[in-house]
Amino acid sequence: MDKVDILLLGAGGREHALLAKLAESPLAGKLYVAPGNGGMLQLASVAPVNQDSPAEVAAWAADNNIGLVVVGPEAPLVAGVADAVRAAGIPCFGPNAKAARMEGSKEFAKQVMMRAGVPTAAYQSFTDRDACEAYVREINGPCVIKADGLAAGKGVIVAQSVDEALGGVAQCFDGAFGAAGSTVVVEEMLEGPECSLLALTDGTTVVPLATSQDHKRAYDGDKGPNTGGMGVYSPVPEHLVSADDLATMTEIMNKVVAQLKADGITYSGCLYGGFMLTANGPKVLEFNARFGDPETQVVLPRMHADLVEVFLACDNGTLDSSMVSWDNDFAVSVVLASAGYPGAYESGKRITGLDKAAACEGITVYHAGTKLAEDGTVLTAGGRVLDVTAVASSFAQARANAYAACELIDFEGKQFRSDIGARAL
Ligand code: AMP
Ligand code: GLY
Repeated sequence: MDKVDILLLGAGGREHALLAKLAESPLAGKLYVAPGNGGMLQLASVAPVNQDSPAEVAAWAADNNIGLVVVGPEAPLVAGVADAVRAAGIPCFGPNAKAARMEGSKEFAKQVMMRAGVPTAAYQSFTDRDACEAYVREINGPCVIKADGLAAGKGVIVAQSVDEALGGVAQCFDGAFGAAGSTVVVEEMLEGPECSLLALTDGTTVVPLATSQDHKRAYDGDKGPNTGGMGVYSPVPEHLVSADDLATMTEIMNKVVAQLKADGITYSGCLYGGFMLTANGPKVLEFNARFGDPETQVVLPRMHADLVEVFLACDNGTLDSSMVSWDNDFAVSVVLASAGYPGAYESGKRITGLDKAAACEGITVYHAGTKLAEDGTVLTAGGRVLDVTAVASSFAQARANAYAACELIDFEGKQFRSDIGARAL
């Protein structure tokens, strides 16, 4: 097969990890990113397109002989970028707009789950504020309030009391999450450890990837506000996810893809299942229509696959489980964030020690919020700045190596959690 030129959309640590893995493929030709970050620009050129514009992305890809468009984040998928790229005759990795509603609408995802008969939290959805408030009062205890649409990971309020729940309902209907909050889903509160399972699919065949566990809260001990994720490890050990749990989670992913197909929707790309491992087995918290961030940063380094071949196979319906295999090792990734994140933070701080960290055995530093200054120095440019990732033959070693590398890197305001993966030890 000839080499293919690739356009990758996105700018986070997830996209840096995807780009690094794509670049390893013998099938990878020229690599372009839009918009990219400081680390990605060391491997690829910038494509001058707005990643959220289906027409712009498809036209640029056609004009530049792109043979594969890979969509990292959810917003372009929900906006229909994959539809436009495929309509232009170009292979695309990522679901079309209808399938991306698995992430774009929590109500839609719940209905698919009900039809497929997969376990998830009981729920009711509301467009009427009074009815929603009345329901929350009737529950009169813990519940979870979710804005229906995309809210950049912020539209979920885990409420311990009626007052907190009513506050969440008010936030949604008062427009704190924009149009995403005009429909509100109220869910039963589930308890247990969380586990992410990413799966590749071409709409028929589902290939589950390794399990991983994110750490969503900002501070040690799962304290503080929710963030995009402060660190992650893979795989999740048996004492947290049993073989039975894993089989159930895999079955759930298969059932959902099959249900969508029965509904006339081909889901191709990565389906991300977020699970709560409850006393009654795994239950779905949410689906995302893309790779997880930071889950990707620990899953891809452990995976043996030609990512270009696999992504093309997802697009053209020829995915096969033999295309993916795994190392028996362990990965831990610690996020270095800017002071103040997930609230307001400063940018433009000079980052030192990247080369020293990258020279350590088994360490890869994926860039998230970084940019290159004109002289090539790397500067901070976001809340989550770097994902310091270690792969080693034991979990304890991977964790120790990741933290040792975190000490080698510095920038003003550097903050990180010191307990990533402590639960797995
Ligand atoms: P989501 O974006 O739906 O995954 O929600 C973000 C986070 O909120 C999840 O990772 C959980 O920690 C929490 N969460 C969501 N739904 C529930 C639920 N039904 N019960 C308990 N926690 C939840
Ligand atoms: N790590 C959570 C997410 O990607 O949504």
